[in-house]
Amino acid sequence: EERHRLHLLQAMDLAGRLYHHLLTETDHGKEAREYLRERGILPETMAQFQIGYAPDSYHFLHPFMKRRGFSEEVLAEVGLISERERRGKPSYFDRFRGRIMFPIQDSQGRVIAFGARILGDGRPKYLNSPETTLFHKSHFLYNLHRARKGIRTKEQAVLFEGYMDVIAAWQAGLTTGVATLGTALTDSQARVIRRNTEEVVICYDSDSAGFSATVRGMDVLKQAECIVKVAQLPDGMDPDDYIRVRGADAFQSEVIAQAVPFTAFKLESLKKEFNLRDTDDRMSYLNQAVNIVAELPHAIERDHYLRRLSEEFRVSLDALKQEQRVVASKKR
Ligand code: GTP
Ligand code: MN
Ligand code: MN
Ligand code: MN
Ligand code: MN
Repeated sequence: EERHRLHLLQAMDLAGRLYHHLLTETDHGKEAREYLRERGILPETMAQFQIGYAPDSYHFLHPFMKRRGFSEEVLAEVGLISERERRGKPSYFDRFRGRIMFPIQDSQGRVIAFGARILGDGRPKYLNSPETTLFHKSHFLYNLHRARKGIRTKEQAVLFEGYMDVIAAWQAGLTTGVATLGTALTDSQARVIRRNTEEVVICYDSDSAGFSATVRGMDVLKQAECIVKVAQLPDGMDPDDYIRVRGADAFQSEVIAQAVPFTAFKLESLKKEFNLRDTDDRMSYLNQAVNIVAELPHAIERDHYLRRLSEEFRVSLDALKQEQRVVASKKR
């Protein structure tokens, strides 16, 4: 069994090296190189992340790997080729075609899967390896093996949505970034993060999907006993866009360093649901804000946020405290 596993890993390793070679050294990869260059990805970053290119052909990887001694069974098991019936006989073809290849590596840096982006527009934008014996998506965090050291040193992890965000941030000097590859953060991923650090900055895309994912992610991380902060980007931007437009320094000093604590973020985002110039709306907002504060486990924290609300809305701290006690007693 262990030997079989090693054989699967060897297949992924060879495919990763082939894709990388095709991107960096051959004519097949010319358009993809140009695409990455336009997106600001430097050659040394391509090397570091072993980014690759899968040619736009149904039969490129398959015959190459076969010549190197990997059976169709093995190639299908790791998700590099797919099978279809043809005149009653099985026929195989490359899963990844005409795509930029991002190797997904385990804690020891071994390639266990790929994420693959189409060049330019088209659907699906990203195609990932399927779940295999090597790759269990719901436990996995992209880039953790590279970022672990930085995370432990800085005592902070930054959580992104996608490959390009992690890579652009790394190029900008942020070596603590990991990503959940487009799916909702799971309990198991949150526990993996917590084993490496207590503090997590969520830095998702500034769009409605990113916002919902942030709200869900905060709760999952809180459950895993993390200290959660949220980085805020201008509307419609993602971290990779921001870095390209505003630069590395601004990203570090204005986005990551300015990340706001979980509760402050919740209170701020709740505001958007109300017209705060309207008295009834202000009262409704305050009620719901007190509800959020009442959830906090520590009295000092509750006091801090109630004082802020009291100053901001010019209502007495006593009234807010009284309200909070009512809310808390109802919960019990
Ligand atoms: P770029 O457009 O290349 O900058 O990618 P992005 O990372 O900004 O993409 P987006 O914000 O749309 O998605 C974030 C992450 O979700 C991606 O990095 C992927 O991991 C994942 N994702 C996005 N689109 C798809 C898709 O069509 N299929 C799958 N399986 N995953 C996707
Ligand atoms: Mn074939
Ligand atoms: Mn997005
Ligand atoms: Mn994005
Ligand atoms: Mn992007």
